Amino acid sequence: MSHVPITDNIYWIGLNDRQTSLFESIWPLPYGVAYNSYLIKADKNVIVDTVKDISPERYLDQIRAVIGENATVDYLIVNHMEPDHSGCVRLLRDYFPNMKVLGTRQAVRFLNNFFGITENVERVNDNDTLDIGGHTLHFLTAPMVHWPETMMTWEATTGVLFSGDAFGGFGTLSGGIFDDQVDLTYYENEILRYFANIVGKYADNVQNAIKKLKESNLDVRVVASTHGPVWRDSPETILDLYDRWSRQETEPGVLLTYASMYGNTERMMEAVAGGLYEAGLDTVLIHDASTTHVSYLIRDAWRYSGLILGAPTYDRGLFPPMQYFVDYLEHKNLSGRICGVFGSSGWSGGGVKSMLSTAQNQEWEVAPPSPEARCAPSEEDLQQCYQMAGQIAKRVKESAS
Ligand code: FEO
Repeated sequence: MSHVPITDNIYWIGLNDRQTSLFESIWPLPYGVAYNSYLIKADKNVIVDTVKDISPERYLDQIRAVIGENATVDYLIVNHMEPDHSGCVRLLRDYFPNMKVLGTRQAVRFLNNFFGITENVERVNDNDTLDIGGHTLHFLTAPMVHWPETMMTWEATTGVLFSGDAFGGFGTLSGGIFDDQVDLTYYENEILRYFANIVGKYADNVQNAIKKLKESNLDVRVVASTHGPVWRDSPETILDLYDRWSRQETEPGVLLTYASMYGNTERMMEAVAGGLYEAGLDTVLIHDASTTHVSYLIRDAWRYSGLILGAPTYDRGLFPPMQYFVDYLEHKNLSGRICGVFGSSGWSGGGVKSMLSTAQNQEWEVAPPSPEARCAPSEEDLQQCYQMAGQIAKRVKESAS
């Protein structure tokens, strides 16, 4: 896909990445990812954020296609310095040596630390503006969404908000780039997976940015993030999703994540699942922590109010794939969940105790009992699983009403 006009004089000049298998070398990209870069063609030509350095020639071709062979780029706005967006800063500086680079105080530092770029760099502050002839850019700092230097840039004539990582998501833009052209059901899953894993840790900062946007009364007509679709038809949809997710507002349902070495914990999981359905809860997702990448577990834990964890003891502690998951849940500060815990053990316990400890640390509401079977589950263990599931279903339904 080449450059795409967004609105008057503003173009998408991003790249789709279908080669990188792990974003940040952690998060799987089964559907790829887009690095959105934007170009405003005015008296002064301005690029807002660059792209990862996966295809520099193509990136330059897209810029040339908009401004022509002989024109220059006058300004580069750096909303965010993570290399998936700053990867072509050096390239642009080499091609357009007089181009001025604008960013926050921390961005100025990162430009030096990453690329040794110190000349023709200018710091911008919150609420500064830049008139580029027919368009005026307003800068709004948005620290820790997702790095300390992050800011957003709003263009006054068109109402386009260049929001950086905020309001972004995984998935390439194949064919269409706008919210009214793509399958939003598919994108919402990948946007939530992106939010929960990349930005969710900074949910309070996302809230601050949203509050700032509301208080500034800016007329946001288009939301143009650095990843995912450009929202021109319904920008309020993505603003609302990020608002709800960053407040950790949940949907009524349960993520039931389990792991099992020899089928004993799996039998307990089936008793739990049966109890949930019997109690009338039909939104239940079951994931095996051993075979499901943690990014999907985090996504669905973020989505639902109920969270049930089941795993065996391993080396007197929690089974490692489940440990990895619960460590991430703590790291991401997941809060306010209705939780249940179960597991099995051989010669020593430890797994259930460890999961309960996480639940206590996160101040989740724990539904009793928390059965831990010795080797294979007894009828009583299975009954307790069933009983715990009923409690959780009841609380999940109550919390939704
Ligand atoms: Fe898409 Fe924080 O970079």
